[in-house]
Amino acid sequence: MQNDYERNRIVAASAARGRPAGIEARGLVRDFKGGVRAVAGIDLVVSEGEIYGFLGPNGAGKSTTVLMLSTLLPPSAGHATVAGHDVVREGAAVRRAIGASLQESALDPYLSAREHMLLQGALHGLSRAAARARGEELLERVGLSEAAERKVKGYSGGMKRRLDLALALIHHPRLLFLDEPTTGLDVQSRTALWEEVRRLADEGVTVFLTTQYLEEADVLADRVGIIDRGRIVAEGAPADLKAEIGRPAVEALPEDPAQRERLAGVLARIGELLPAAAGGAVAVRLPAGARDLAEVVRALDAEGISLAELRLHAPTLDDVFLAKTGRSLEGGGDREEAQQEGAAAAGGQTGGSVRA
Ligand SMILES: Nc1ncnc2c1ncn2[C@@H]1O[C@H](COP(=O)(O)OP(=O)(O)OP(=O)(O)O)[C@@H](O)[C@H]1O
Ligand SMILES: [Mg+2]
Repeated sequence: MQNDYERNRIVAASAARGRPAGIEARGLVRDFKGGVRAVAGIDLVVSEGEIYGFLGPNGAGKSTTVLMLSTLLPPSAGHATVAGHDVVREGAAVRRAIGASLQESALDPYLSAREHMLLQGALHGLSRAAARARGEELLERVGLSEAAERKVKGYSGGMKRRLDLALALIHHPRLLFLDEPTTGLDVQSRTALWEEVRRLADEGVTVFLTTQYLEEADVLADRVGIIDRGRIVAEGAPADLKAEIGRPAVEALPEDPAQRERLAGVLARIGELLPAAAGGAVAVRLPAGARDLAEVVRALDAEGISLAELRLHAPTLDDVFLAKTGRSLEGGGDREEAQQEGAAAAGGQTGGSVRA
């Protein structure tokens, strides 16, 4: 005999048949009272099974976009389909196909994880037995089995985030919206969540994920949309976006400051000199990428110039953001400030921009 849960799955599956679990938005706009245009005309397409990262600073319009795509907020203009259903006219069908873990999660501090799963199951029309079984499976999956009886008020931020993810998955959604799922998490919890998101995508779930973390978008997303002030300013695979910015640069600091001019002369023979180097260093864009490093070292050796420091700065998504907006995602400051930060960040081997 079919229970409610199975019936629910069959209905959802047949409703979804022939409709790819993607997202398509055209000219999406959302205005708020007081003249705030939070989302100012967004076009995007996310394919089934893709992880799409929506990267942008505070107030860029990420959550507002997620709320519109998940039917919780009506657009002021434009339209969107999710899993083939219009978010305004076919809201119920969209909601059956999606799971959402929102930025303002609605966990009850006085309920345990297990109680949350039962309640969420009931909301989706599962029988108590089905909700219990699926609840246990998901709590196990997100590593909360041992804490399942404890009240949420004693949970850490990471535990709450994982519970929220489990709740979003109870009805086997084909699409998942995650609004800043790792903000405030430690490195370990963040990595664990990334792995879970990857596993879901491998199972064919489409993931739309917002983040303020460059590294998160870079390592997790198949494609990234960079959003600023309600508009998408760049979109593509992280590697392609970074490649558009150009080749890596190398920054060299002479041991003897008086050698700076000679150093610049040698580096200018190798590639285009860059203006941004701080603290007496000289920066040059490498025409053939990191392969040119050996030539740099050989040339300086031949000229007898000793270095105090040599750093390779590979383009990051922050450089992409900087190129498109004139501001840094990391600092949020103006261009000058951002460039100084960029130079400081070049201290790392690749200038990796992790906002931890
Ligand atoms: N309910 C609301 N009423 C009025 N203004 C709002 C409302 N919700 C959002 N806004 C404004 O819309 C803009 C975009 O907000 P949104 O929450 O979408 O940004 P976000 O990219 O999610 O930022 P964050 O990284 O801080 O979560 C902001 O200027 C915000 O103040
Ligand atoms: Mg937000």
